[in-house]
Amino acid sequence: MKAVCVTPDRDLEVRDVPEPTAPPEGHVVVDIAACAINHGDHAFLKTRSLRNMPATLLDIWGSSGAGRVIAIGTGVPADYLGRRVAIYRSLSMIHSTQTAGLWSEKAQVHYLSCLILPDSVDARDYSGSLVNVLTAYAFLRQIVEEGHCGIVATAGNASTGRALVELARREGMPVLAIVRSAAARQELADMVAEHVLDSSALDFENRFAALAQQLRATAVFDGVGGGLVTRIVPLLPMNAILYSYGFLAGSEPVSFPTALLNDKNLTLRPFSNFASATVQDPKRLATALTVLGDGIDHPAFLTRTGNSFALDQIAAAMSADGQCKSILMPHQQAQPLN
Ligand SMILES: NC(=O)c1ccc[n+]([C@@H]2O[C@H](COP(=O)([O-])OP(=O)(O)OC[C@H]3O[C@@H](n4cnc5c(N)ncnc54)[C@H](OP(=O)(O)O)[C@@H]3O)[C@@H](O)[C@H]2O)c1
Repeated sequence: MKAVCVTPDRDLEVRDVPEPTAPPEGHVVVDIAACAINHGDHAFLKTRSLRNMPATLLDIWGSSGAGRVIAIGTGVPADYLGRRVAIYRSLSMIHSTQTAGLWSEKAQVHYLSCLILPDSVDARDYSGSLVNVLTAYAFLRQIVEEGHCGIVATAGNASTGRALVELARREGMPVLAIVRSAAARQELADMVAEHVLDSSALDFENRFAALAQQLRATAVFDGVGGGLVTRIVPLLPMNAILYSYGFLAGSEPVSFPTALLNDKNLTLRPFSNFASATVQDPKRLATALTVLGDGIDHPAFLTRTGNSFALDQIAAAMSADGQCKSILMPHQQAQPLN
């Protein structure tokens, strides 16, 4: 079968590789329908410090996808067989050394990296979702356990932000979502959010400070960094903790007087789904996948899909950039590119 593999120089190339047929204990083989190219697929490929990450089987790349389970190993609950699943391969790598990447016609992963989808949904719409939904869920579990009463989501209109707003709404936890345009504010308010502020609005700072206090929003889910963090840090309530999980502002620096750390008893911490209690503990991960499967058809959990590419078109797919994610469809023939 064809697969997109990573070379020792951290480039990608299409190779012919053996097809997985007999999954080992705890693993499934999935006939892959679609794979989204997510931020992590780019970042982990080129980040120098991550070059020694454990390789996946056959060096197949790609961490998000969806497809149908066509074989199960011993110990896998029988209800996985024949079902369509959303996959976030990296969950597998904590609990398995037998995981392959997803950018291939068929993939072998641990069943704890698969969320069973309802038959009524299109697998392509979930080809990049699980990483984001699971990250939001793991964050919510952590901050509830830490005793926070409200959240600020800086990347309100990103997939992670949307997922968090909807999951928190289901538990009655208020979220102050920040977006960067009036159009995004309207879109998010229509879809899911009660408290949305547009950071480009003239009165943003005043409204943010008042609402963050009112909602006791001391847990900041920061997917942006940079200038936005510089703007909101002085306005946060006392005892706020800023959890940095994403870097949509790229290398833009953050700047504030360190006296604020004392004045507000402010904490800055990283957050990653890998390190979360939800992902590290197989029992909690299994519970998370079951809970998230119930109601996964909400629009906040869909992958925003862009153009589709065949595996042979991996270079074009990786360089396509935009609001929507490029989708690799392993069973699609290469199409002429516009
Ligand atoms: N640590 C973890 O465990 C973890 C897990 C998943 C994702 N991440 C990281 O989280 C970040 C978000 O990922 P995602 O998949 O949720 O993103 P995404 O769905 O690709 O979000 C893109 C949207 O975010 C908004 N956005 C982009 N740049 C922005 C900026 N500078 N300020 C505010 N909003 C901005 C834009 O919406 P508008 O065009 O409407 O403004 C854009 O459409 C990435 O850095 C990703 O690597 C980390």
